[in-house]
Amino acid sequence: MTDAIRRRFPGSQNEWARFDGPAGTQMVDAAIRAASDWSSSGNNANTHGAFAAAHATDALLERARGVVAQLLDTDPNGVVFGANMTTMTFALTRAIARTLKPGDRVVGTRLDHDANVSPWRIACEESGAEHVLAPFSPIDGRLDMDAMAKLITPNTKWVAVTGASNLIGTMPDIKTVVALARHVGARVFVDAVHLVPHMPVSVRDIGCDVLATSPYKWYGPHAGVLCIEPNLLNALPVAKVRPADDVGPRRFETGTPNLENIAATEAAARHLLEENMASVAKYERDVFAPLLQGLLSMPRVKVWGPPSLEARTPTVAFTVNGLTPDRVAEILAAKKIAVWAGSSYAVELVSHLGLAESGGVVRAGVVRYVTPDDVQRLLAAVAAL
Ligand SMILES: Cc1ncc(COP(=O)(O)O)c(C=O)c1O
Repeated sequence: MTDAIRRRFPGSQNEWARFDGPAGTQMVDAAIRAASDWSSSGNNANTHGAFAAAHATDALLERARGVVAQLLDTDPNGVVFGANMTTMTFALTRAIARTLKPGDRVVGTRLDHDANVSPWRIACEESGAEHVLAPFSPIDGRLDMDAMAKLITPNTKWVAVTGASNLIGTMPDIKTVVALARHVGARVFVDAVHLVPHMPVSVRDIGCDVLATSPYKWYGPHAGVLCIEPNLLNALPVAKVRPADDVGPRRFETGTPNLENIAATEAAARHLLEENMASVAKYERDVFAPLLQGLLSMPRVKVWGPPSLEARTPTVAFTVNGLTPDRVAEILAAKKIAVWAGSSYAVELVSHLGLAESGGVVRAGVVRYVTPDDVQRLLAAVAAL
């Protein structure tokens, strides 16, 4: 079962144990093929033309929006493709900045990746609005919901919250955050970049206005996707060229779409639909449980973030007494075990934990092609440090 799945990821067919998935996964075979097939199909054209290849290009975009919408349980008319989450979030917040004014507030969190912090901070600086961040518990990595409730005041216009921390795996209760925001008439942006690869996600059920995800974190190509509530999408004062569509996703997608990556995104989304995200979550949890338990039991190791399997992704952050995170990553790399060291751009998180000066943490993430054997290798290597 594990071997059959692992074979679907050509980039994992070597001796490396890849715990670097939260920074980007190996592509699934179907997505690699889809990019290649599109490129050799003769359909490479542009949108809205009179000839067959142009129609096929329109059809690709429509099909890909549909499959991604199915994966995320959202309206395909709000599915927008782009370069990556960071670029798309900056474009969105530049438009939102034009709707903000002095006295308005944007609420974020210290759990977030900086791609869901700096774009909002800059939008607030440019518009004169206020940007505030809710803390989390340094003990168990949980978002402080009381602080969140206090910070979401009647002048709050947007709440930007992570669906899951890319560093410590915490999954905040985003439905409660949405309810708090709705209570004061604020909109909600969910950074689901680290959530979508690991859990079933329903935009409809979450009830947010915008949800961001990056297909390269879920076995697809380097690309970004925003799901924007269609009325909001059509109303936002986005920067666009005059001939671009005035309504629908194309008003946000500046320039010619990255068609081969969109073909691959569609294939990666189909793969996850076929695999079923509930089964993916269960597989990853089973592989991850001994990793978390093993690290928690080592006297020289400190695990940062949730100490249990509840409301978390299979991503763990840890430090080792007497060794910098960089050094740990180097020693593990020499044993062909890939982990990341540092902040992984979750700069507020690392500084809230007091780890900014000491080099952050070591991060190990389980994804679909990580096996129980890989976990045992990692545990043995950490125990031997
Ligand atoms: C939680 C989270 N948000 C945002 C980003 C930025 O995504 P992108 O590389 O698509 O800009 C990342 C990337 O690591 C991430 O993990």
